[in-house]
Amino acid sequence: MCGIAGYVGNKEALSILINGLSKLEYRGYDSAGISIICDGNIKTVKKKGRISVLEEFVKNDKINGHIGIGHTRWATHGEPSDKNSHPHTNTDGSISIVHNGIIENYIKLRDDLISKGYKFLSDTDTEVVVHLLDYYYKKDKNIKDAVFSTLNQIEGTYALGIICKDYPDTLIAARKGSPLIIGVGENENFIASDVPAILNYTKKIYLLDDGEVALINKDLILIYDKNKNEVKKDIFEVTWDMESAEKGGFEHFMLKEIFDQPKAIKDTLLGRLKNDYINLDEIKIDKQILENINRVYIVACGTAYHAGLMGKKFIESLCGIPVITDVASEFRYNNPIIDNKTLLIVLSQSGETADTLAAVRLAKEKGARILGVVNTVGSSIAREADDLLYTLAGLEIAVASTKAYTSQVVSMYLLANLFALELGKISKNDFENVKLTLEKLPGYIEDILKESDKIEKLSKEYINIKNVFYIGRGLDYFICKEGSLKLKEVSYLYSEAYPAGELKHGPIALLQEDSLVIGIATCENTMEKLVSNLQECKARGSKILSITTENNNIIKKVADNIIYIPYAGEFITPILANIPLQLFAYYMAINLGRDVDKPRNLAKSVTVE
Ligand code: AGP
Ligand code: GLU
Repeated sequence: MCGIAGYVGNKEALSILINGLSKLEYRGYDSAGISIICDGNIKTVKKKGRISVLEEFVKNDKINGHIGIGHTRWATHGEPSDKNSHPHTNTDGSISIVHNGIIENYIKLRDDLISKGYKFLSDTDTEVVVHLLDYYYKKDKNIKDAVFSTLNQIEGTYALGIICKDYPDTLIAARKGSPLIIGVGENENFIASDVPAILNYTKKIYLLDDGEVALINKDLILIYDKNKNEVKKDIFEVTWDMESAEKGGFEHFMLKEIFDQPKAIKDTLLGRLKNDYINLDEIKIDKQILENINRVYIVACGTAYHAGLMGKKFIESLCGIPVITDVASEFRYNNPIIDNKTLLIVLSQSGETADTLAAVRLAKEKGARILGVVNTVGSSIAREADDLLYTLAGLEIAVASTKAYTSQVVSMYLLANLFALELGKISKNDFENVKLTLEKLPGYIEDILKESDKIEKLSKEYINIKNVFYIGRGLDYFICKEGSLKLKEVSYLYSEAYPAGELKHGPIALLQEDSLVIGIATCENTMEKLVSNLQECKARGSKILSITTENNNIIKKVADNIIYIPYAGEFITPILANIPLQLFAYYMAINLGRDVDKPRNLAKSVTVE
């Protein structure tokens, strides 16, 4: 998730752009750059690395100008590098743009533009936008029509900042699916991906809506809808302070990222669900390769490992291929059987986890094919994998992983379906149902998030709980493992996950009056047994909370509290069950006054073994 800043007014743009980008650093990024119209030409400086690297480069330059755009990049297409940094300019340097989002049809647009003689300097999806703009500007002879013509060609998401040297007083902004606001000043105006970038200058903003385009001068702002009709918008007065603004109005990054999940899943799915096939660009594994694989490992750490367990079930159920899972810190010492017929699938949000990277290197040494499911573009694991599936969950700042986990599980489900289609294990008609369910997933998550107040209230009932047991069967058990880890990480409460049928083989001895047992109940074919297991717990005085589907009536017999979720099929419903568990862990941590975003003893990326 990058940062965009833009300025037009009477002041020097450079310091305002750098200051604005610095206020967006919390969003995380891998490179930064600026473009300013200076003495009638566009001057661009862009560098991989921190904003301080960019500042070092510009401090001796005389980049004087009153209009410009700036960008901090969170790479999705093309590894972090100077050339892939934004802004991107057209060949003659007359137009410059910054972009946040994903241009889904960039490969087709790029091929079309190359056939028209355009030369590309970067590996990004974004660069197609500035060359399209160039093409239409030469055709339409005015920048506003050129912008609309360009946007009509684009599929995907964008927040765009644009400057053109022929319009030295006009900053252009457009958005679809990625946030962009307009800051309204006195004889100056701003654009930004988020409020912090402009809070030092104004609290008056216009919230651009999807499909809208704005032509912004220092004393005039014109906003048009997608049909080029001018729209009048109310000014929104920002009441947030800087601290809360950085979290988009949420109290913590963890809560913001839990609520980011509908968008994260939309981005994970964007451009990948075609009519009758799955488009996973950087996975080069086809039927022939799959038939030559005789062992599949899924290896990861922590939350990523829990997503891997879900992947095991998906691949075994859909493809009939046995899968061995292991935590990365054990994998290397378990004498794994690896050769050139082995496929190692690794999952990692950071792409830098030392244990997981070590597993990759061991397996690669022994001839295995490496498939990485990674959230951070250009990370070590991404660079060393043979096949790559980016989860595209956007930057995750809170130490406790939430949206990245959900994107990892959905990515594993896509992978399992890709393999199943390749092997002919599922028909294109079966896949149609998979596609329809996945397309509804963001909406289902949104429905569950609407219950967050109820979950917050419920968490207060359990404020004195001393230990928590998560129990479930099948995929629900893997969800229990993730729910338990989330609670441990952020609330420091002792909790454990067990297969529901396993309690009577020992752990039930732990149950006491102040125990809480959380039963995840989405697996229909073992529901009766799960209810019996919960009865066993209740009979020993434990409190019972259940997460189950709306149509489940038998759970009422045993649960003191129930959180209902939509039913979305055997594979997707457990993913939904995890959302209330994320919220429960968050609110328990708040109740206990924990440092939610930076829990004690934990790091966001464990780069030591
Ligand atoms: C998740 O909430 C934890 N922060 C931790 O378990 C994490 O999942 C693990 O360290 C793996 O990190 P990675 O996904 O970046 O490899
Ligand atoms: N998809 C674009 C890129 O990879 C923009 C990424 C961003 O939002 O920062 O450069």
